[in-house]
Parts: sequence; structure tokens; C-alpha cells
Amino acid sequence: MLPAYVHALEAGWSPNTVRNVAPEQLAAIASDADAFIAGLTTRGGTIRLHDGCEVARLPDMIRWIIAADRPERPFVGSINLRWQEDAAGRPVTELPSHVLGHVGYTILPEHAGRGYASAALAAVLVEARIVGLPFLTITCDAGNAASRRVIEKNGGRFVERFVAPFYGPGERLMYRIELQS
Ligand SMILES: CC(C)(COP(=O)(O)OP(=O)(O)OC[C@H]1O[C@@H](n2cnc3c(N)ncnc32)[C@H](O)[C@@H]1OP(=O)(O)O)[C@@H](O)C(=O)NCCC(=O)NCCS
Repeated sequence: MLPAYVHALEAGWSPNTVRNVAPEQLAAIASDADAFIAGLTTRGGTIRLHDGCEVARLPDMIRWIIAADRPERPFVGSINLRWQEDAAGRPVTELPSHVLGHVGYTILPEHAGRGYASAALAAVLVEARIVGLPFLTITCDAGNAASRRVIEKNGGRFVERFVAPFYGPGERLMYRIELQS
């Protein structure tokens, strides 16, 4: 699957929607592909924000989305779940101010509109329950109708419209998905 991932990065796709991480990921893969793959599931370390600051990487899960409904099983995107833990290692729902939500996802443009983001978010909700989170916060740009629909189809309840100045002046929508029945 790594060649398909590299192909997507080379075509300009980025798994991070607030910062284009394609160049640095391509360099990391070229330098040591095994270390790059291992790093996807490693805990700790730092990540770089769009302003260049390095911050602690939260506990997270990064999942590559494979289209199991197609015979060629193409790589179609990625989704990740991140959260914080208290001193005892228990998950807590609060997030640092630079993290807009618990979940981020992005689908390659050529595979959009086939239900992959909706299915991927449904699968991540199962993982979030296993982590022990009682609810998730997910945000999207106010104009991102497709992402709003993905969230709403997965039970997202609109919370508020807000602006995160650190990420620019645009309005964003915050949703909450309850994980406890
Ligand atoms: C947003 C994104 C993740 C959607 O992925 P996707 O796989 O196409 O999503 P799905 O096919 O599962 O669902 C999309 C839904 O939005 C609907 N939709 C798409 N465009 C729409 C529009 N302009 N207006 C209203 N609804 C729209 C689709 O009809 C579908 O709903 P339906 O199943 O009820 O018909 C994808 O377009 C993407 O990666 N965009 C760039 C990155 C991004 O915005 N990530 C989200 C950050 S919060």
C-alpha cells in the first residue's frame, strides 16, 4: 500500500488538511520507509504546526482508508483520531487549543462521493469507544458541506459556530458525537 500512498502524496494530496505535509512525508519515506511506517503507530514525539511550532504529539490512531468494495482495493485516503490522557493514562475529552477536533480525515479527490469518509468515521467511532472516550468533538469549515454531511450521518450534533484565529479568520462548525448510549 505504501506505493499508492506515495503516489497520492506526489499528486499533491496531504493527510493533514491544515498543513501540506506531503513534501516532508515524501522525504521521510525516501530516507527510511520502514521508520516512516513504524512512526505512524509510535507514541510520543512532536509534530509541527502550520506556524512552524513543534508541539507534543497526542496519543493518536492513524488509519489508511482502503476501498474494500472495489476489486483493486485502492488507497483512498486517511483518517486519524487523537485525544489527551490524564496523568494516570485515562483518556480525557479536552483538547489543546491548537487541536481543532478529535478526528481528521481526507479522501483523495478522485475517490470522493462514494461514502468512504462516512464509513471511515463510523469505523473510528468504534475505535474511540474502545479507547474509552465518552464523546468526540469534530470541527469543519463552515463551507465544507460534504464534511458536515459525513459528521451528521454519523450522529454529529451541531454545537456552535466559531472562529479559531490560529488557523485563520474563517468560520468553523463544531459538532459532538456521543459515544455512550
Ligand atoms: C469532505 C470529504 C472528507 C468527504 O469525503 P467523501 O468520501 O466524499 O464523503 P462521503 O462520500 O462519505 O459523504 C459525503 C456526503 O456529502 C454529500 N455532499 C458532497 N458534496 C456536497 C455538497 N456540496 N453539498 C451538500 N452535500 C454534499 C454527499 O452527497 C454525501 O452525502 P450522502 O451520502 O447523504 O449523499 C472529502 O471531500 C475530503 O477529503 N475533502 C478535503 C478534506 C476535508 O475537507 N476533510 C474534512 C476536514 S473536517
